[in-house]
Amino acid sequence: MDGLPKVELHLHLEGAAPPAFIAGLAKEKHLDIAGVFDERGNYRYKDFWDFLKVYEAATSALQSPRDYQRLVLAVLEESAKSGVVYCETFVSPDFCGGRDVGAWKEYLHAMQEAADEAERDLGVTLRGIITCIRHFGPEKARETARCAAETAGSWIVGFGIAGDEKIGVPKDFRWSFDCAREAGLRLTAHAGEWGGPESVRDAVHDLGVERIGHGVRAIEDLALVDELAETGIVLEVCPGSNVTLGIYKTFRDHPIAELDRRGVKVTISTDDPPFFHTTMAREYDELHKAFDWDEGQFRRIARQSLDAAFCDADTKARIGKLLEA
Ligand code: ADE
Ligand code: ZN
Repeated sequence: MDGLPKVELHLHLEGAAPPAFIAGLAKEKHLDIAGVFDERGNYRYKDFWDFLKVYEAATSALQSPRDYQRLVLAVLEESAKSGVVYCETFVSPDFCGGRDVGAWKEYLHAMQEAADEAERDLGVTLRGIITCIRHFGPEKARETARCAAETAGSWIVGFGIAGDEKIGVPKDFRWSFDCAREAGLRLTAHAGEWGGPESVRDAVHDLGVERIGHGVRAIEDLALVDELAETGIVLEVCPGSNVTLGIYKTFRDHPIAELDRRGVKVTISTDDPPFFHTTMAREYDELHKAFDWDEGQFRRIARQSLDAAFCDADTKARIGKLLEA
């Protein structure tokens, strides 16, 4: 399945940083973040909550627009190797200039320059979704939403929320989502990863999102599954992430195939690929092995993913041609 053109909608930019890249930056800056890595140079963490801490520690090595420019290139090189032709990445002004609008614009400019270069040289198109961090609280999310509103456009196409799903409830963030929506941004929220089906329902009803990051635990409530299918809410499913973090034991236990059979629009992504020892190519291989999904099934899901992308119609038409290859 390596050669199939792929669309990825759920990728955390810092979470996609190759560990050697972060180690190199830390060395350049004389930063001691050795605890982030194991003896083989992979990221080391015990569970999801420890993962969030390690994620932030690794991110501390990214300190300038130039660092993010290099990061985008490093990440898209990996995407291209897996056959990804279109990708949406979560970017956080929290980590890029501390939510100051002026500083954020400099980071964004640097990322866009790298994205342009990658589109030219690697054939991968990238767009950004500004993401607030749930465990940083609603007040900081408002500042993040202001950054989003100021930079909404053809490259920043969406707004979302990541972080610790166990803290607070979606409606705490309603102001931020309303602000982003009014600025023309499309909306997604992490839910139904660590929270149960009610967290998915709350994100849909209280924030008005059209996509859910993960959302897989909706399977525990079949009335909700029917509602998602009927309303066309799209799930950004990251099977390898869920298996590595222990939400499901194996790919065969993962509900993606059942959600798909029940008419929910599922898509396939990697979340934080080096943390979860995955790539888009590996996700495809594992799904093929677990559910015997064939090329036709993967092509249908790639098209479904592009339909759910937040980019403009011209971009979709161009990428659509690549998916037919
Ligand atoms: N931040 C990075 N990866 C995440 C995930 N899988 N869930 C919530 N927040 C995240
Ligand atoms: Zn995620």
